[in-house]
Amino acid sequence: MGVESGPIGVGIVGTGRISDLHAIEYLANPLARIVALCDVDPARAAARAAAWGLDDVAIEGDIDALLARPEVDLVEILLPHHLHLDAALKAVAAGKIVSLQKPMCISLEEADRLVASADASDRPFKVFENFVFYPPVIRARELIAEDAIGTPLSIRIKSNPGRSATAWDVPASAIAWRQRPEHSGGGPLVFDDGHHKFALAWHFMGEPEEVHAFIGDTETADHRERLDAPSIVSFRFPGNRIGNLEIVHSPELEIATRHYAQDDRVEITGSKGVIWLNGGHGRLADAPPVALYRDGAITEFRDVETGWEQSFVLSTRHFLEVLSQGGRPVLTAREGRRVLRFALAALESARAGRPVPVAAEGGTSA
Ligand SMILES: NC(=O)c1ccc[n+]([C@@H]2O[C@H](COP(=O)([O-])OP(=O)(O)OC[C@H]3O[C@@H](n4cnc5c(N)ncnc54)[C@H](O)[C@@H]3O)[C@@H](O)[C@H]2O)c1
Repeated sequence: MGVESGPIGVGIVGTGRISDLHAIEYLANPLARIVALCDVDPARAAARAAAWGLDDVAIEGDIDALLARPEVDLVEILLPHHLHLDAALKAVAAGKIVSLQKPMCISLEEADRLVASADASDRPFKVFENFVFYPPVIRARELIAEDAIGTPLSIRIKSNPGRSATAWDVPASAIAWRQRPEHSGGGPLVFDDGHHKFALAWHFMGEPEEVHAFIGDTETADHRERLDAPSIVSFRFPGNRIGNLEIVHSPELEIATRHYAQDDRVEITGSKGVIWLNGGHGRLADAPPVALYRDGAITEFRDVETGWEQSFVLSTRHFLEVLSQGGRPVLTAREGRRVLRFALAALESARAGRPVPVAAEGGTSA
């Protein structure tokens, strides 16, 4: 794969809620320059350009026009999930570098097409999964690499949406497509946000052999949306190791955040120690972002950055460094497919009411 020279021209497709966090590093990093924005609502794209201080970007109303622009080297795809496949295939066919938001698509068949297309392209293809770049997660990986907890034996992940006086506004349009399974691929918490949690499980523990899920259903008090909670997804990993994702909606739980009103907590138990990650989208008061128990003592790591946007900044910075110096995107298309399998297995298990084996590189069920 070639190494890019000069600032990489970035075209963003889909300038909705999450685009603000993608723009931060592109605006700051001399390796890149945002040259075009595209949205079916061009006024929204123009408003974002103004908010980001860009007065010289092209504004397009459809992806074909953006892809036809030679100054666009890299396409950042931030669309509703059912549009990911077509947009990414077109971008690869146009010879562009691709960064595709998670989940890469909504079925394994679609994922296979994207993997084949990425393999056939000589330009890099990334599935954008920022959670693995969240500074507390990076610190936990370093601690594990230093043998702080011995062999990781279990991971326990909690997604806990609540309420927040400081959260950003999520437009009704961003909620609407997530409420339609044919557009989102699954529920907002297990399939959509769940991608981050399955990525963490994969990051720390590898691929599961078996997934077993119960997926609940709750309407929020403001009747704005139905949440796929309370839910629990259990994983069995090779080597007698386990994990789970538990999702609970706590309507009166106040959460400190500048983004989504959700707290995330992770506990990784090893053969001789335990690591806790307190926070993600938001935090509960002043909990230490990372804590380690080992040999009778708890060590708190309070020097770790906790702003959620940092995970986007570091993910984008890593990709730009890969493009300028060589290396491998995180996630690759193949890795994106592996993480997607967790979610699809969970949906299948909940539907069938039984554990679902996850065959290596294969489908979700026997
Ligand atoms: N990594 C994270 O933490 C995170 C957080 C939120 C969203 N996301 C992902 O980002 C993506 C977008 O989510 P969002 O919350 O910003 O959604 P959103 O609804 O706010 O934004 C989507 C944008 O796409 C535009 N759009 C729709 N169809 C289009 C088309 N055919 N061509 C061009 N533009 C079109 C819409 O007008 C809208 O502005 C999804 O894949 C989602 O899973 C990731």
